[in-house]
Amino acid sequence: MEATQSIVVLDFGSQYTQLIARRIREFNVFSVVLPCYAKLDEILAYKPIGIILSGGPSSVYDNDAPPMDDRVLALGKPVLGVCYGMQLMTHKLGGRVRSAAKREYGHAEVHVKETSRLFKGMPADLHVWMSHGDEAEQLPIGFKELARTSNALAAIENADKQMWAVQFHPEVHHTPKGRELLRNFVFDICGALPNWTPAQFILETVETVRKQVGNGRVICALSGGVDSSVAATLVHKAIGDKLTCVFVNNGVLRKNEFEKVQTNLRDKLGLHLVAVDATERFMSKLKGVSEPEKKRKIIGNEFIDVFDDEAHRIEKQEGHVDWLVQGTLYPDVIESVSVRGPSQTIKSHHNVGGLPEKMKLKLIEPLKDLFKDEVRRIGRDLGMPEDILGRQPFPGPGLAVRILGEVTPERVTLLQEADDIVVTEIKRAGLYNQIWQSFAVLLPVMSVGVMGDQRTYAYTCAIRAVHSEDGMTADWVPLPHEVLKTISNRIVNEIRGINRVVYDITSKPPGTIEWE
Ligand code: XMP
Repeated sequence: MEATQSIVVLDFGSQYTQLIARRIREFNVFSVVLPCYAKLDEILAYKPIGIILSGGPSSVYDNDAPPMDDRVLALGKPVLGVCYGMQLMTHKLGGRVRSAAKREYGHAEVHVKETSRLFKGMPADLHVWMSHGDEAEQLPIGFKELARTSNALAAIENADKQMWAVQFHPEVHHTPKGRELLRNFVFDICGALPNWTPAQFILETVETVRKQVGNGRVICALSGGVDSSVAATLVHKAIGDKLTCVFVNNGVLRKNEFEKVQTNLRDKLGLHLVAVDATERFMSKLKGVSEPEKKRKIIGNEFIDVFDDEAHRIEKQEGHVDWLVQGTLYPDVIESVSVRGPSQTIKSHHNVGGLPEKMKLKLIEPLKDLFKDEVRRIGRDLGMPEDILGRQPFPGPGLAVRILGEVTPERVTLLQEADDIVVTEIKRAGLYNQIWQSFAVLLPVMSVGVMGDQRTYAYTCAIRAVHSEDGMTADWVPLPHEVLKTISNRIVNEIRGINRVVYDITSKPPGTIEWE
């Protein structure tokens, strides 16, 4: 996307860096996080009207202290240093920083002593989430102290140079007035306009994609999930049927998913969609394989092959393909440890990793600056159905990682039925949108049961429901007794082949969300 104005956040490795950008975007002002070592050109390309230096775990005296282009401080644009950003500013501008052995966090009371645009409209006494570590001992010339805790410096400014810095974290919810401080910086100091709305994002992205693609052809691997569907819809809005979407049935989709996704994307959204049923290809490769990582690899590689075959067919019919759309999101691209260098921070996209290299395609990633909830907002503005936007995440290798051991057609059908019951009942109870993921797992463990007068000997099904922010950590959900009872009764009574249901009460860590 081509920004018309932005607040650039330079990431020095704090676990909270992404939150800063998120808070600012909640004001409808575009903000982007760039690694601290971003080149000046890259920073200026985002047309910054203000810069924020994030916190970070380092000391300015560390040998491997994260680097920054010093010219950032001489741009004449407002700068706000946060925590490490405050020490860095002090150090770079000729002040002195006292080094501490390690950084700690905690609640603190801050007293604001001086009036400042940064604290405009805020009370003199603030409760904050403080980072205790290195401390600015001597301020650079032109700076003055604005606020203190009982024993530490908390905020400084050089209004002439348009520089401010705080030792605490305004972006976290433990600093209740933090939003006001950021709002003061963004609107009062930087003069931002609240024009970064979904409608504006769509308008700008459509224009950028149109220019980028020109007369080229574009393909997209659709999974039916939120990210790839929104990405495809955006690109379709820009270039119409020069975009061909490919949706592959890998044989381990949910019940009726292959048909449902086609209805949603082709009929409701009007995408030019090629649906390929490659169930046989995947199933024959998976035959006899039970090792989890092997199953993942087989599915990933086979997917690339199927997609490659399809792309060649499309090229023969419609002309050379130049671009690939991916629904990569911001958390997929940069993690907060980006100070350690880009190689550690770029995750290959789960489902389509390897495709661009193999097919020599250039990438279009229209969502790469967005968080999941922002993608949903964009999707809503594009008029996409809630059916697609509200979907819980579903792994690329699909039900294969929820069937423990070998994946057979019989087991896939059993799990599809069980999964359908779980999702239906969770939706019926009004819980689907409150839960990160809820699903069934098929365990190849046979146990004895009784049904009428008959002895049964059949599989076990585990139910899993978790709350999570981002899939990195998760808590199991105490589903209401009635919901569990209905799910269990329905599975055992309606699915011949499963006679026992258990509930997974493991959090992540130490468990993972998926069983494989
Ligand atoms: P775990 O099981 O690692 O899952 O706790 C975390 C999140 O990632 C999803 N997941 C995957 N998604 N390909 C994907 O596209 C995969 O191989 C894969 N494995 C796990 C999982 O559903 C959860 O949301």
